[in-house]
Amino acid sequence: MDQRVLGRTGRHVSVVGLGTWQLGADWGDVREQDALDVLDAAVEAGVTFFDTADVYGDGRSERLIGRYLRERPDAGVFVATKMGRRAEQLPEHYVLDNFRAWSDRSRANLGVDTLDLVQLHCPPSSVYAGDAVFDALDTLVAEQRIAAYGVSVETCAEALTAMARPGTASVQIILNPFRLKPLEEVLPAAVKAGVGIIARVPLASGLLSGRYTKETVFAGDDHRTYNRHGESFDQGETFSGVDFETGVEAAAEFAALAPGSATPAATALRWIIQQPGVSSVIPGARSPEQARANAAAADAPALSRATLDAVRELYDRRVRARVHHRW
Ligand SMILES: NC(=O)c1ccc[n+]([C@@H]2O[C@H](COP(=O)([O-])OP(=O)(O)OC[C@H]3O[C@@H](n4cnc5c(N)ncnc54)[C@H](OP(=O)(O)O)[C@@H]3O)[C@@H](O)[C@H]2O)c1
Repeated sequence: MDQRVLGRTGRHVSVVGLGTWQLGADWGDVREQDALDVLDAAVEAGVTFFDTADVYGDGRSERLIGRYLRERPDAGVFVATKMGRRAEQLPEHYVLDNFRAWSDRSRANLGVDTLDLVQLHCPPSSVYAGDAVFDALDTLVAEQRIAAYGVSVETCAEALTAMARPGTASVQIILNPFRLKPLEEVLPAAVKAGVGIIARVPLASGLLSGRYTKETVFAGDDHRTYNRHGESFDQGETFSGVDFETGVEAAAEFAALAPGSATPAATALRWIIQQPGVSSVIPGARSPEQARANAAAADAPALSRATLDAVRELYDRRVRARVHHRW
């Protein structure tokens, strides 16, 4: 598996990583053994980068990763976690004492002295503007609670503000064939600054697999049922912010662009990998089969210019008006 430098962390990570929100909650039930099997399938397929958060299943995702890595200390996995959503999303909560408490809990969950990377978990925009927040994050590094910090953002403007800070090692942002805005300014700025880009929601919550129809029903405890209009968290995190009916129709057109025997999901991942500036793409997987298929996309042939152009034409025609101005 191709390895890329993750921005200012200076560490190498696999170009296809694994998102582990699925192993916490909000995606229907995923049993413990199934979750461990997903982690193992990814590692066996060459993945060396896991993305998690302290709130995924209230720590379940982190604890499962910690358990897996205790059993597989040789796996060489870089773990990025997130903090900041255990309290109400108010700017005054992003202070050193909370950062210490939150990161200490993640260290215990993951079973490590020093966290590889902690990302601020989509805080309010104003948090990125203050010096004190970044000073507090620098303190965590100095205290060796964390080796590096980054941000996970909702908007391109937040990404640009955060990456102007010298200590910001990485930016996690939604980037997929239904979310092209980061290509305009964020990725070029990241390349220039040497900041890593972690591309999340790469399959638009599964839409880009082309498997869903307008009749598809998700479990009641799956955010694809209960957050379609942003009822619980930012609407952009569910189906990339595209309404489901439009998304299903556009995904059918996207599926027709997949070259040869490539699946639509692999084509979406391949498209992301080819965007200059991307360090790692982190598809979520609910089964070992999905984890293996996603890792294999790293070795698939590059998409042709004609396919890249067709993806952009599809975005401009079907999706742009719904998402481009929002994030
Ligand atoms: N605010 C934040 O920082 C934030 C927000 C969202 C996500 N994330 C991170 O980003 C990761 C990825 O985003 P995501 O999980 O929300 O969305 P995603 O990766 O776009 O979609 C994941 C879903 O795609 C489907 N899928 C995965 N692999 C597949 C394959 N090979 N073939 C067909 N379908 C496949 C599965 O759907 P089914 O369940 O229908 O099988 C899976 O649950 C998360 O796990 C998390 O680590 C961070």
